[in-house]
Amino acid sequence: MRPEFRIFLCFTLFIVTAQASLFKLAPKARRAYQTLQSRYTSYSAVSANLAKCACGYYIPETKQTFTHHVVLNPSTFTSSDLATALSRQGWIISGWEQTSSPKNILYTPSNLKYNPSSKALELTVSGGSSSRSSIPSAEISTIMSKILYGSFRFNVKVSSVAGACSGLFFYKDDNHEIDIEILTSHIHNTTTQKDGIPKPGVQLSVQPLTETQALKNYKVVPFDGNFDPTKGYHEYRFDWLKSGVKYTVDGNAYGSYTRFIPKTAGSILINNWSNGDPYWSAGPPTKDSTLSIRSVDLYFNTTDTTAIATWKAACKKAAYKKVCNVPKSKSG
Ligand SMILES: *[C@@H]1O[C@H](CO)[C@@H](O)[C@H](O)[C@H]1NC(C)=O
Ligand SMILES: *[C@@H]1O[C@H](CO)[C@@H](O)[C@H](O)[C@H]1NC(C)=O
Ligand SMILES: *[C@@H]1O[C@H](CO)[C@@H](O)[C@H](O)[C@H]1NC(C)=O
Repeated sequence: MRPEFRIFLCFTLFIVTAQASLFKLAPKARRAYQTLQSRYTSYSAVSANLAKCACGYYIPETKQTFTHHVVLNPSTFTSSDLATALSRQGWIISGWEQTSSPKNILYTPSNLKYNPSSKALELTVSGGSSSRSSIPSAEISTIMSKILYGSFRFNVKVSSVAGACSGLFFYKDDNHEIDIEILTSHIHNTTTQKDGIPKPGVQLSVQPLTETQALKNYKVVPFDGNFDPTKGYHEYRFDWLKSGVKYTVDGNAYGSYTRFIPKTAGSILINNWSNGDPYWSAGPPTKDSTLSIRSVDLYFNTTDTTAIATWKAACKKAAYKKVCNVPKSKSG
């Protein structure tokens, strides 16, 4: 969830007497992904995967077949230049400052690093003084900006340093968004908190959030006692279909939604940020807080007509009309 929308949600959830005027406070400080993305042909990055599974990817759990697959696999990067390595796998690094409150979020390309010993891509929120006016953070998004429905899996480890928000999400705009967020200040803390402070657990929301249905499409599912997101890698996943969104962690159900499901194509983003807002990310962190990504697998359909035509041609030409069966999970 975008920080400006978080403000909106807090009002919605906790200020029962909220007046209509408050809702207008949420600014629409949107960004220019498109200008960056237009430097690439959106289908080139995914075409490499077409050969092996020329006719698509079957997801047994939802019984759906999707045409495209984008991976993020740092262990197979083919360039030491991170922007090049990421773009070859279909990803783009964000560099922009998001106006936020009380502090701005400064998406900083150098806050992304490949760690060769863990073979993980690390997204860092820079630690430092709480008097900073903007907090260096990190974000990547898919070059493919026309993703519509699919199965999205993120094998990551979050930081135990408090004060950051790690987001794994689909985004078109603030009214078309599917979020998994882990707030490092609110992972396990069972101390009773003031109203409006997020409950401990994985924060799940499907937007649009409106005044009347915010509670229905935002929930916090506590991490069960057997697992700690800051220790080891876990697979966070959502399956997005026309009929609904299902969340799973390590293959276990973590909630589902059937109402207000986005029906518009967009991008997948991964980020790690702080804006110092006590009602969401908290922080900013005093020490570096790092999200480590071991792998990402996105199976999806697209509304990009060029990509669809390329896929159709490749499937038609393939000697063996292979639809690959996608394994349930590769977490651990
Ligand atoms: C994805 O696209 C394929 C090929 O057009 C189609 O057969 C399939 O039903 C689509 N899946 C969804 C969930 O829309
Ligand atoms: C847990 O929450 C309490 C109350 O907000 C806070 O004072 C404390 O620092 C938190 N503990 C951790 C480990 O974040
Ligand atoms: C996010 O940033 C924080 C602060 O730098 C870090 O501790 C944490 O590990 C990061 N999370 C991820 C998933 O990289």
